[in-house]
Amino acid sequence: MKLILLGCGAVNLSLLEILLARRTELSVRYGLQPKIAAVVDSRGAAMSPDGLDIKELIRVKKSKGSVAQTTPSGRADVNALDVISEVDADMVVEAIPTNLRTGEPSLSYVKRALEAGRNVVTANKGPLALTADLLPSLANKRGLFFRFSGAVGGGTPILDLAARCSLGDRIVGFQGVFNGTTNYILSELEAGLSFEAALRAAKERGYAEADPLIDIRGLDSASKLVILSNAVFGTRMKLKNVKVKGIRGVTKAKVANAAAKGRVIRLIGSGGIAPAVAPQEIPRESPLAVNSAMNAVTFELERSGSITISGKGAGGKETAGALLRDILTIHAKLGGFYPARDETAPRVATVV
Ligand code: HSE
Repeated sequence: MKLILLGCGAVNLSLLEILLARRTELSVRYGLQPKIAAVVDSRGAAMSPDGLDIKELIRVKKSKGSVAQTTPSGRADVNALDVISEVDADMVVEAIPTNLRTGEPSLSYVKRALEAGRNVVTANKGPLALTADLLPSLANKRGLFFRFSGAVGGGTPILDLAARCSLGDRIVGFQGVFNGTTNYILSELEAGLSFEAALRAAKERGYAEADPLIDIRGLDSASKLVILSNAVFGTRMKLKNVKVKGIRGVTKAKVANAAAKGRVIRLIGSGGIAPAVAPQEIPRESPLAVNSAMNAVTFELERSGSITISGKGAGGKETAGALLRDILTIHAKLGGFYPARDETAPRVATVV
């Protein structure tokens, strides 16, 4: 399978490291032999029709700052849209910084990829939260696969769980903690750190967006709420439909006051008729009272009651795991195998 990687920040760099470290296992267990036909970063690209040397790509990116410095395959003067159209590939894997104002350039990249007949995996929230079903519809029309499980919950398979739950029951509502950065800050406020020191630490740990105001103001949470709502309820909601309040007003005193009552403050997103994101006091024993950069979502099911999923919600290697999950899922749909073919195993339906 030939891949084009758009972006080579923490997420796609981690993806390259995983592909290298798990090369044999991915081939033997899943029949996946990925060839990296191109990697584009903010300063250029590296391209090779035979597949780039992944180890060398990682070395050059880490030591020189851009894949454009790779020899002989690096180029500084490339247009990402041309690479998407012209480089032969089965799939585009996009993980550039999220833009929640216009969705660009990710929106144009994904559209171009689908128009060029490429399947797409993305971890980008902007295009999905701003344009509702535009991209999934475009993919459907063209008979292509478009997956974005890394856009909600980092590596925690929140969208995948929702899809599985919806098969056997009906999700009637959900509530969750969707942002690792703000959850980290709120947890650290409880531990006595200042807001600024906690934000600095969240940035250093790679949780925050390139513009951390997106996290602090609740917009990142709202974008994930939109993506999950559209997936769960089949709506065409957009970011502007969510009532959003961030965590700027949460002080150490408010956190201490909540703690005295056995409660914690968490930035909660609520899906349903009145989608909203706001800091809320919740009991310390609530399944949503997760700590550090964790995310958690409780789904209310019509017949089965509530189901909660929690796990790390941010970070390069975590989100890279979600990309690989999506790549393997599409690979299976294109005729690869997943899970491993085992002639001795009972015949069961393929898990997707
Ligand atoms: N900035 C995001 C967060 C990254 O803190 O959750 C994952 O989407």
